[in-house]
Amino acid sequence: MRKILIKNIKGLVQVGENLPLIRKGKEMQELPILENAFLALEDNEVIAYGLMEDWEGITDWRDLEVVDADGRFVLPAFCDSHTHTVFAKSREEEFVDKIHGLGYEEIAAKGGGILNSARKLAEMSEDELLQLAQKRIDKMIACGTGAIEIKSGYGLSVAAELKMLRVIKRLKETNSIAIKATFLGAHAFPLKFKENHQGYIDLIINEMLPVIASENLAEYIDVFCERNYFSLDEMSEILEAGTKYGLIPKVHVNQFSVMGAVSKAIELGALSVDHLEELGDEDVISLQNSNCIPTLLPGCSHFLGIPFGDARRLINANLPVGLASDFNPGSTPNYNLFTIWSLACIKLKMTPEESLNALTINAAFAMGLSETHGKICLGSKAPLILTKEIPSLAYLPYSFGELNVERIFV
Ligand code: NIG
Ligand code: FE
Repeated sequence: MRKILIKNIKGLVQVGENLPLIRKGKEMQELPILENAFLALEDNEVIAYGLMEDWEGITDWRDLEVVDADGRFVLPAFCDSHTHTVFAKSREEEFVDKIHGLGYEEIAAKGGGILNSARKLAEMSEDELLQLAQKRIDKMIACGTGAIEIKSGYGLSVAAELKMLRVIKRLKETNSIAIKATFLGAHAFPLKFKENHQGYIDLIINEMLPVIASENLAEYIDVFCERNYFSLDEMSEILEAGTKYGLIPKVHVNQFSVMGAVSKAIELGALSVDHLEELGDEDVISLQNSNCIPTLLPGCSHFLGIPFGDARRLINANLPVGLASDFNPGSTPNYNLFTIWSLACIKLKMTPEESLNALTINAAFAMGLSETHGKICLGSKAPLILTKEIPSLAYLPYSFGELNVERIFV
């Protein structure tokens, strides 16, 4: 048995029994921290924690590793509830096109964008995709990510969508952190279905979904509901079909336009609605009548130069906010959630406490991991972050671009 005692912790963050499953509105400012604390782990399971003054000493020193965390904080690892971590190649040539003035939608119209990624992924073997994704996951963990949702959506054919989902399934089996799979066959229409949308939707519903269900390849179903992508009716048809197979909706909505997708997705049981760079009054009302987590992706806004989601409006409406990386080769080539934490503070005007709740408790809820992740409590086995020596918790998002991780317990 591997026993670790972390002592003299400057701040043990997001710690306690019976923490809420979601923090919303003013509660997002709440963040329980034990100062000058200890934490004991047995095979990575939290077996005790408390104040140093209450620590009763060690009775059994055999095989015990003692970590002195003087001046350092311990946090629950972040949950990244929205990523596209499986992809074939980076797309920096589009990045340069963008510098020369082309927009996201213009690049897509040129055959770039999602279809570009799909072409590259079609040629790559399952094993090679797996190796590339694993390297990315290792780097994500080193940056403090302790659970990852991964979407398909760069396949866009029966064979390639299933290939992506099988890669994600293998990643689940071989990684010690929690991984959740989302089927995003409806990410874009492949060229040959440009004039025949129903033909592709039929493929999704009749050819992809039954295999996904029988091989247990996904927990969630996603649709990119947007002009030039999937319409509101197309999204509804696909999500309804997915829910019949037990897949829970978790969708890309309101990135460029408000079209009623938030209300519709919530009506169909969405666990989260993601992007929300644009937000209508009716979207806010639907969210207020639900347990759905509005999830903002400030890395995407920053990289594409599009508006940032209105976190203050959501919080003032007594809603929860979730934050995620949206890590993907097109709109967000960054997986570091410390960067997202900084962007949330700088651009969304969220406080360090609000944004940490959005990356832990609320993000865990948005990926069905509330029971086990996003907090530190007795019995928890989720990964933990030990920071470097830092003056305060707010220093973490303040020192943007700096990685203050000393060690990850996973
Ligand atoms: O979440 N908006 C849709 N999908 C991705 C971008 C995909 C791509 O450009 O490859 C996103 O931003
Ligand atoms: Fe995305």
